[in-house]
Amino acid sequence: MQVFQQISEVKTYILSQKQQDKTIGFVPTMGALHQGHISLIVQSKKECDISVCSIFVNPTQFNNANDLSRYPRTPELDIQLLEQVGCDVLYMPDVKDIYPTTDTRQFNFGYLDTILEAEHRPGHYNGVGQVVSILLKGIEPDKAFFGSKDYQQVMVVKSLVDQLNLPVEIISCPILRENDGLAMSSRNMLLTLEERKIAKLVPKMMEESREIAKKNGISAAKSYIHNEVAKVSIMKLDYYEVCNADTLEPLTALKPTQQAISLIAVFVGNIRLIDNWMID
Ligand code: PAF
Repeated sequence: MQVFQQISEVKTYILSQKQQDKTIGFVPTMGALHQGHISLIVQSKKECDISVCSIFVNPTQFNNANDLSRYPRTPELDIQLLEQVGCDVLYMPDVKDIYPTTDTRQFNFGYLDTILEAEHRPGHYNGVGQVVSILLKGIEPDKAFFGSKDYQQVMVVKSLVDQLNLPVEIISCPILRENDGLAMSSRNMLLTLEERKIAKLVPKMMEESREIAKKNGISAAKSYIHNEVAKVSIMKLDYYEVCNADTLEPLTALKPTQQAISLIAVFVGNIRLIDNWMID
């Protein structure tokens, strides 16, 4: 695997591959890689000739300085995992390579800017828009692969690509789960043993709330989640919503013709976990 720290080096490499008619797949990450990330590389390798991964903990998407400083960083392990899966290129820039000057761009993601993650983490998706646009413009991949655990992020990135007219296909990939159902996340490694035991309740609640929504309606599902979270002292609900899966507009009732999705953000101790489940 080639490891580059500067975008100019990545560009030279990509150009030489494109001159040989190779297609480029790209997986942007913030490192602390887990099997969910690795599944994105596997997908990229299936669909493209060359796979590029980036690791960059993007400061502009953190709306909380503590969250940024404690974000897990495991570069040696990340490199090992990427080597093992056969990733071709790792781009590991420092802040100056991504932001030689302060990025003052403000994106407008419309309705997506006002709900769920955007409402609870103001400025988060603007920072995602900044870094993803810089990465996509620098690497110029044919396809970029994103996990659907952050379902809203995939929609935001699709909107970004449309707005900037970037010639890249955004591929949304399924959530990978631990054996007990917890959605894989770099943040899981920050959980204490006690918190990790509690965290496994999240997918259980989501599964049960899906059944309740189907049987008794969305407001019953919401009450269930609020009550269950309230039972656990170290859990705090940020939001739980059932939305139209195409637009993320909140639903009050399920309709057979409309795919619905339930989305949750919940603190276990100080660690904020997100998850989503399709309601079919
Ligand atoms: O999903 C993430 O890990 C980040 O938001 C991303 C897309 C790598 C941008 O920093």
